[in-house]
Amino acid sequence: MSIPLARFGVWALVHGSRAALQDPEEPYDASWTRNKALVLEAERLGYDSVLVAQHTINPHDPNLDQLEAWTASAALAALTERIEIIAAIKPYLYHPVVLAKMAQQIEHISQGRFAINLVNAWNRPELERAGIGFAEHDARYAYGREWITVVEALLRGERTSFNGEHFHIDDYLLRPADPFRARPRIYVGGESEPARQLVADKGDVWFINGQPLEDVARLIADVSARTRPASLAGLRFGLSAFVIARESDEEAQQHLAHLFALAAKDAPLRAQQKANIDPKAVMFQTFAQTPRVGSNGGTAAGLVGSYDTVARRIAAFQHAGIELFMLQFQPFEADMRTFAEQVIPRVHALNALNAG
Ligand SMILES: Cc1cc2nc3c(=O)[nH]c(=O)nc-3n(C[C@H](O)[C@H](O)[C@H](O)COP(=O)(O)O)c2cc1C
Repeated sequence: MSIPLARFGVWALVHGSRAALQDPEEPYDASWTRNKALVLEAERLGYDSVLVAQHTINPHDPNLDQLEAWTASAALAALTERIEIIAAIKPYLYHPVVLAKMAQQIEHISQGRFAINLVNAWNRPELERAGIGFAEHDARYAYGREWITVVEALLRGERTSFNGEHFHIDDYLLRPADPFRARPRIYVGGESEPARQLVADKGDVWFINGQPLEDVARLIADVSARTRPASLAGLRFGLSAFVIARESDEEAQQHLAHLFALAAKDAPLRAQQKANIDPKAVMFQTFAQTPRVGSNGGTAAGLVGSYDTVARRIAAFQHAGIELFMLQFQPFEADMRTFAEQVIPRVHALNALNAG
């Protein structure tokens, strides 16, 4: 198997710090001003992607600030020049023709750098309190499947008609079409059986939550073995991970212990959040298996250690088929810089060594 070239991305801080919310070194800040500066710096540092998660209300505590993903992504598209902008989307919140139109517009603003991350929701109050209702797990995936079928055809610039259980589209056409490529890229996040089938049938990249290498390899093997429509290119893989990279393994472990101690202060908030989680969301069942800090698997991927240790682990994930590493840090900006300066060059050096 050929080893994919590594790409590196950062999670925007749409709902504050990722490991612990009460950190004196990193006061709560999910503002546009902070995120704008963070993404512009990530681009300058050479990062390839930014993932803007979508939550209409803050999933930890509705009293806390929350950045809006789609308006922020449009603004980021206008301000940046090179970085890929991935905005998450939960199908129940937008009709597919409206969302396809918005995605197409951001594709134009960014000049071909936009992508969507299709996610099928876990936070009940976000949809329930809006009166939209929170459908059962597999029913959400069935809805999402119809939804992305409509969005995908519209993004391709096709004249679209669709008659499904949820959507009835009659000869719809969006213009201008995408002048940069066939359509924006489609990522899918989710780990359950319907998520895996959805990404095999409809996605370009599968986003896997941070977890140990052997588990990630097993997931990649499962989804790679599924048949895919001939119209889609080979499926690619991304991994979410929280990085702690320091000069030595010991220093990294000390910082991990420090973040665990800080995260313990959020226990009441986490309990509140837990009560809102759909118990059928497989992702949270996976998280329960490994103590970790960070969201979406966080440190469970094991990217904690010296610069060399972290670079070697990244190379091992590349061998398993991961191409895009979507990263979290705390303190975010400082560790994002260190990673770019110390770890990325080491990964490239390891790749060159392995290729030679
Ligand atoms: C990389 C990644 C990003 C995600 N981003 C979001 C997000 O922005 N908003 C959200 O509500 N859920 C997000 N999710 C969670 C999905 O909604 C989640 O996978 C789903 O609720 C659980 O599905 P599952 O049972 O298939 O694991 C994300 C998941 C992954 C893997």
